[in-house]
Amino acid sequence: MTHARPLRSTTTGAIRGSIRVPGDKSISHRSLMLGAIAVGETVIHGLLEGEDVLHTAAAMRLLGAEAERSDDGQGGGVWRVRGVGLGALQEPAQVLDMGNSGTAARLLMGLVAGHPITCVFTGDASLNKRPMARVTKPLEEMGARFVGRTGGRLPLTVVGSGELVPIAYRLPVASAQVKSAILLAGLNTAGATTVIEAEPTRDHTELMLRHFGATVTTERLEDGALAVTVTGQPELTGRSIHVPADPSSAAFPAVAALLRPGSELLLNDVGMNPRRTGLYDTLVEMGADIAFENRRDQAGEPVADLRVKHSALKGIVVPADRAPSMIDEYPVLAAAAACAEGTTVMLGLKELRVKESDRLAMVAEGLTRCGVSVEVGADDSLTVHGTGKPPKGGATVLTAMDHRIAMSFLVLGMATEQPVSVDDGAFIDTSFPDFVGLMNGLGAAIVEA
Ligand code: S3P
Repeated sequence: MTHARPLRSTTTGAIRGSIRVPGDKSISHRSLMLGAIAVGETVIHGLLEGEDVLHTAAAMRLLGAEAERSDDGQGGGVWRVRGVGLGALQEPAQVLDMGNSGTAARLLMGLVAGHPITCVFTGDASLNKRPMARVTKPLEEMGARFVGRTGGRLPLTVVGSGELVPIAYRLPVASAQVKSAILLAGLNTAGATTVIEAEPTRDHTELMLRHFGATVTTERLEDGALAVTVTGQPELTGRSIHVPADPSSAAFPAVAALLRPGSELLLNDVGMNPRRTGLYDTLVEMGADIAFENRRDQAGEPVADLRVKHSALKGIVVPADRAPSMIDEYPVLAAAAACAEGTTVMLGLKELRVKESDRLAMVAEGLTRCGVSVEVGADDSLTVHGTGKPPKGGATVLTAMDHRIAMSFLVLGMATEQPVSVDDGAFIDTSFPDFVGLMNGLGAAIVEA
């Protein structure tokens, strides 16, 4: 991904159609990682074939697993992973390049920490800026060793151990990545490893560990926090996995349909894990017409088909305790808020500062360029003043290697008076391959700028 890909989005008519957005990124990473340490074959349908997940697949191969794609005969892919068995990951002969993906890097650091191997992790310029001490600290307490750059940043070397000691660790930040890294390290550790979370974060690791045969229990503590415990050294057996469509990716066409008059869009098979659906709750509170049809269970994860119709949105206050369930959706929510009538206040956004970019700063800057009045509070809140009329647009927005900033502003550009350009849409491929083709197929007008 060496060449920038400037894109421009022009106001469009209605957004109409029926689509399935690509597979869930969080679940895709986890299915490859757990498949790689299970005994036997794991068959994955609907894996996200975005660059982030392909980096995980490449890393699992370097660690000794087989991971191959074949055509499913219907234009999609089936992935088959042949695992090495828990504790048997091999020392990679190459540096593990995790690209743009914090999830890949942090979860895998946890997994290899529980193996007696040494691995070197690196990533792109965005990932190599992101804080890793949040995972290395608890993993060091378990007995793994790390040598990274200042602030624990990548490139970083992990010296793992087959004899970690189990810990009980209270998360200092609401982070599923940190929780998952510790649980994955606890897998090859004798005894019970516990992570305590004060705020519920996505639980795909826990659900999938159970699916592969591990024992994961939860206990509500007196202070309301949840203790999640994995029993070490389980028998993990290869499984079949159906990855739902990613609710974080579905958010972009969903908001586009809400903003454009005359729109009606059906989003099929969208993951509805309650720890992921904060954006949809928020949009409904803002007045969005979204019907959750055909709710069902798909391999342990709830899914539904979402019917989204154009709606007049109004500003609301989004409470801080909703942040973990919509942590990746604030940029696109901000685009919706910019077109709503009235003020939207989003509280508790500190974690946005350490995503693929400083999303709080990038969103505020981009909206300002597009003529929207915004304030960033000292408490890491974001206030967006909507007028109920289309924002001016007519600007180029900086994306800082961040796929979600790029997609959010391209969605905004569908509703602004003048087109919105992004300086680089190349990173969209990390999570949403063919975003542009799919959106244009629904009625968007996104072109190379
Ligand atoms: C993820 C957790 C979240 C989220 C990220 C995916 C995961 O990160 O932002 O896109 O798959 O566990 P944090 O754990 O840093 O909040």
